[in-house]
Amino acid sequence: MTVENEHSFNLLTQKVIAEYNKGNQDAWGNEEQGLLEQAITRFSGKKCSILDAACGDGRLFKYQTGFAKITAVDFNETMLERAREIARQLEILDKVDFVNQSLKELSIPQVDVILASHFLQHMTRKDARIIFQKFKETLKIGGLIIILTVFSPHKTDRYKKSYFDGENRIEKDITEEEFNLIAEAISANKFSSDAAEKPTMSISLGTFSELLYDNGFRILQFETFHVMKNGEAKDVCVLAERIE
Ligand SMILES: C[S@@+](CC[C@H](N)C(=O)[O-])C[C@H]1O[C@@H](n2cnc3c(N)ncnc32)[C@H](O)[C@@H]1O
Repeated sequence: MTVENEHSFNLLTQKVIAEYNKGNQDAWGNEEQGLLEQAITRFSGKKCSILDAACGDGRLFKYQTGFAKITAVDFNETMLERAREIARQLEILDKVDFVNQSLKELSIPQVDVILASHFLQHMTRKDARIIFQKFKETLKIGGLIIILTVFSPHKTDRYKKSYFDGENRIEKDITEEEFNLIAEAISANKFSSDAAEKPTMSISLGTFSELLYDNGFRILQFETFHVMKNGEAKDVCVLAERIE
């Protein structure tokens, strides 16, 4: 991945977040933090292990300090380097294993909790199915998976791409086929995007049900947040337990 591509992708992410935070700098973080803390404190401090799946720059490590062991997986080396630095600052380096691997090839010892934050929306359903199968193998029975992602309040998933046209961020509805093409190209490049286009899938309850129930998970909590001006929630936090 070139530094230039990575920079434009991160810039886009930052601008999108800034847009949702308009007027309240901490809105995004606050809502997410509350939901995450609720979920993580159920297991924290009990000598439990957690997988931070697609950990990115490690921004969520600060909620995981109560775990005895953290496995941080990401296929992007630059992200893992940043995550290592955050772990160093939090003084938890000794209990974090960094794994530079695609979640599609995930192969680590079983854990008590999986944190799956903000990557599902950028991958094809085919890849998501492969990864949830891996999550099933990786989570202990009775273990918890925490998913944060983009929500579709409609009966079906919705697909968009966003990009910058000069200073303006353009967001367009696209077909699943177009989404798949862009998402596959980004995945092949380990998350860089040559065209600086960001594909996002809003995930419907039906798709969550398919990914979770088919892999032996039971949904415990389904909480939408980041409500937008049109009254629709943009994101969702799903807690599910592996029951078989
Ligand atoms: C938007 S970031 C989210 C990072 C973090 N989970 C968070 O919530 O801040 C998405 C991350 O997913 C990683 N990623 C995407 N697909 C992946 C895959 N198949 N295997 C491993 N990492 C992946 C990317 O490298 C990137 O760091």
